[in-house]
Amino acid sequence: MIRLDRFLCEAGAGTRSDVKKLIKGGRVTVNGAVVKNADEKVGESAVICLDGKALSLTGLVYYLLHKPAGVVTATRDAHEKTVLDLMKEAPGKDLFPVGRLDKDTEGLLLITNDGDLAHRLLSPKKHVDKTYLVRTRRPVTAQMCRQLAEGVDIGDEKPTLPAKVKPVPGSLEELLLTIQEGRFHQVKRMLMAVENEVVYLKRLSMGPLWLEDSLKKGCFRPLTEEEKKKLGISDTPAAGRC
Ligand code: URA
Repeated sequence: MIRLDRFLCEAGAGTRSDVKKLIKGGRVTVNGAVVKNADEKVGESAVICLDGKALSLTGLVYYLLHKPAGVVTATRDAHEKTVLDLMKEAPGKDLFPVGRLDKDTEGLLLITNDGDLAHRLLSPKKHVDKTYLVRTRRPVTAQMCRQLAEGVDIGDEKPTLPAKVKPVPGSLEELLLTIQEGRFHQVKRMLMAVENEVVYLKRLSMGPLWLEDSLKKGCFRPLTEEEKKKLGISDTPAAGRC
């Protein structure tokens, strides 16, 4: 048996205080009946719904974090502030970042405890698009764009795969670069390979996920149902809607 509020937290419905409000508001049912008591004990086989949608205790949770510069992409670190230090109140166990952004890189980072999803997004064979806003030390020439688009030698066994390069209107020192790999310091090394240099880097997208302007640096939010669908995640258990 588990307390209803704890169940909701572990299912990713919100923080302890969020779920208490949901329960008080009559939005939670247990086996079809509204329960307004957060202390209620629920059994393993109970069907628990929030706004009519069954919640699962797989415990899998998905967040989009706007990583600021100055924090490291790690679950813990003896000296540095980590991305998970920014997410202490996020419900869910064993969270980890999917992929890595450098300490000085900002932008979209998916945080989850779903290892299968991480594997699917990071597998080199899957060619998941990642778009970066890149600001450079020197103006980006048409030739640099062509080289980046074709693939460049960054000192690895193979050159980088073809990338999409888009200019940023009104700025000669910025570009939007979409790559399908995730090699170490890849964008910085690609710009070095064309004799330029990254002075600012922000990831705007990963697969179907895009960072919206309203999500401020250092803030996170759960993925929407639509985003989860696009990622092929179905968190509705067999019980379905109730
Ligand atoms: N490429 C880089 O060089 N750094 C990042 O943080 C991400 C991609």
